[in-house]
Amino acid sequence: MWPYPRILAHRGGGTLAPENTLAALRCGLAYGYRAVEFDVMLAADGVPVVVHDPELGRTVAGSGAVSDYTAAQLGAMEAGAWFGPAFAGEGVPTFEAVVAYCKAQRIWMNIEIKPAPGHDAQTGEAVARAARDYFAQEIAAGEILPLLSSFSTAALQAARQAAPELARGWLVEQLPPDWARQARELDVVALHCDHQQLTHALALAIKEAGLGLFCYTVNTPERASELLAWGVDGFCTDRIDLIPSME
Ligand code: G3P
Ligand code: MG
Repeated sequence: MWPYPRILAHRGGGTLAPENTLAALRCGLAYGYRAVEFDVMLAADGVPVVVHDPELGRTVAGSGAVSDYTAAQLGAMEAGAWFGPAFAGEGVPTFEAVVAYCKAQRIWMNIEIKPAPGHDAQTGEAVARAARDYFAQEIAAGEILPLLSSFSTAALQAARQAAPELARGWLVEQLPPDWARQARELDVVALHCDHQQLTHALALAIKEAGLGLFCYTVNTPERASELLAWGVDGFCTDRIDLIPSME
């Protein structure tokens, strides 16, 4: 039913490394994590890059939008120094580079499609198409594939069209009353819920509906145990130092 790893390092290395960088992936791996979540957006040249915010300034030094710069320009920007001097020199990685690293290290991926405002379908299509190319061999061999996810239903629909072979999860902050119908229409395999909005009854109903249930972002071992006891299939965490990966 849930063929994927259960515990994922959020944004690569949680809060132990600069999010969505290759350093974050190395950090996750150092803590024994062979499963990660990261965010993918489009650069100005349409190349998918791994970054969370559509605007520069918080984790990437500079100003303006991610969509103002090419992937090469973003790669040369400073995306590690904000976290600490030891991480200075980390750039914004391309999706391709992150996938290459994960495949080389046998790290499973939950690829969150994170469209910049107004770029929903375009981002869903481009990320799914790229992922389909990167995983062509695994698709042909019938192996376990990465899971795409998004808060954007337009991105999910575009991803489904572009790469129907790749399963999708629907990220929701607050579950709408007609979540079961919407999930069916979107043809997703899982709901990705904010664990703070999840109740035991809701967890049971989601599992009863035959859907996978993933939670974000679970940062205490106590809450992790509670959610797993409720039947939650998997979750991502920022606290890879407190919660063992279970792999
Ligand atoms: O995919 C789970 C989680 O990453 C969603 O929220 O804002 O951290 O991307 P955010
Ligand atoms: Mg995310």
